Amino acid sequence: MSKIDVLLGLQWGDEGKGKVVDVLTPKYDIVARFQGGPNAGHTLEFDGIKHVLHIIPSGICHKEKINIIGNGVLIEPLIFQKEISTLEEIGFVPTNNLYISKKAHLILPSHRLLDAANEASKGERKIGSTLKGIGPAYTDKIARTGLRVGDIFSSNFVANYEKIKQSHIRIIKSLGFDENSFIIENQPLCEYEAKWLESLENLKRFNIINSEYYINQALDEGKKILAEGAQGSMLDIDFGSYPFVTSSNTITAGVCSGLGIAPSRIGKVFGICKAYCTRVGSGPFPTELFDENGEQLRQQGREFGSTTGRPRRCGWFDIPALKYACMLNGVTHLMLMKIDVMNEFETIKYCEEYIIDGERTMELPFDMEQSIEPIYSSCPGWKQDLQGIDKFEDLPENMKSYIGLLEEKTGLPIVLVSTSPNRKDTILKAEI
Ligand code: GDP
Ligand code: IMO
Ligand code: MG
Repeated sequence: MSKIDVLLGLQWGDEGKGKVVDVLTPKYDIVARFQGGPNAGHTLEFDGIKHVLHIIPSGICHKEKINIIGNGVLIEPLIFQKEISTLEEIGFVPTNNLYISKKAHLILPSHRLLDAANEASKGERKIGSTLKGIGPAYTDKIARTGLRVGDIFSSNFVANYEKIKQSHIRIIKSLGFDENSFIIENQPLCEYEAKWLESLENLKRFNIINSEYYINQALDEGKKILAEGAQGSMLDIDFGSYPFVTSSNTITAGVCSGLGIAPSRIGKVFGICKAYCTRVGSGPFPTELFDENGEQLRQQGREFGSTTGRPRRCGWFDIPALKYACMLNGVTHLMLMKIDVMNEFETIKYCEEYIIDGERTMELPFDMEQSIEPIYSSCPGWKQDLQGIDKFEDLPENMKSYIGLLEEKTGLPIVLVSTSPNRKDTILKAEI
């Protein structure tokens, strides 16, 4: 009997989860997504291909491996159809190796309108949602009014769909708008809806299964499974900077409910972070930089959203936030991404502690919007290009010192260092 390993983001998302899942897939039999939906944008780069995945797991470019969209994930069938087409264009036809849980919930076109109406009604307090309908679709799931993938085979599907859509329109009207106040992917609701309904036929081409049985049986047979997180721990619905969060549990606990496996079946937990911090959308960000260092990180790290293209906010590494995320997730191994982005920095800063209400603390407060003053330390940069380096020992000494310092502060080993977007530029420091 084997255990399921987990890979998830420890910051505000976009840590590079897609790249590492793609790199690690050869070591696994199955890759499974357990939460989130098309709000995610996971980038893979290899052999001259750059590809962004949203709903489909990042193991999909390894044709012999099974990829599963778990019950905790939200599926928008038209976005899914487009994702399949772009994969087919680059030579990957996943009809045989992609399985979908019957219990995964659907994002309806009217969820997306509702997302837009909710955001518009919040004014300055808007969350900066990706507008993919995530919050409203998870709301329907919890309210027990959602539609699931398994429902698309029912003869009542369209009637139920219509009923839910009308209830969404009533909410939209109560917020002072109507169904024509917003568009979806540049189309009015009626136009988008027709294509959305058609795209259900595409969904039916795939293996739609009771994935909880499939996954537990695979573990019983000794198969190796990697669970792929979306978003990041600081966007978790319970522990993130609420209300500026996403609507799912992005932490390890989400693997159990999002795939149907018991806590005792969790194995290694790979926590992945950038060598600095980014955040896209609104909400607290204690180490955010508004100066030329922030701009340098944004430009050199190409920090523009994979899903929405929005510029990402950038800041120094935040150790209290990282330690919090490691605690919540039970991280066993750390992976450090995008260290190359700091190649030209003279000095690198990191936040060791916060000052809150005049006191030094490592603890994130209940209200992340209150004044949090980071206390910074610094270390010298390495001022060196990393091209051609493929062994940990050959990395610049100052970089190795920075990595050692992060290991010391977190008490966890850094087992992987990533030095470019490309699959091949990945240094394993230790066997995992
Ligand atoms: P994810 O959501 O966690 O999968 O991350 P995204 O794909 O949204 O964002 C990470 C971005 O950084 C993508 O554009 C990746 O191609 C890129 N990336 C990943 N690892 C590295 C790295 O080590 N160095 C650099 N420079 N870019 C990287
Ligand atoms: P990946 O998996 C970064 C952010 C949005 C917004 C908030 C809520 O690529 O790391 P939502 O659409 O979920 O209602 O938006 O969460 N957000 C992400 N930020 N990476 C992501 O995913 C994100 N998914 C959502 O910007 O602030
Ligand atoms: Mg992303």
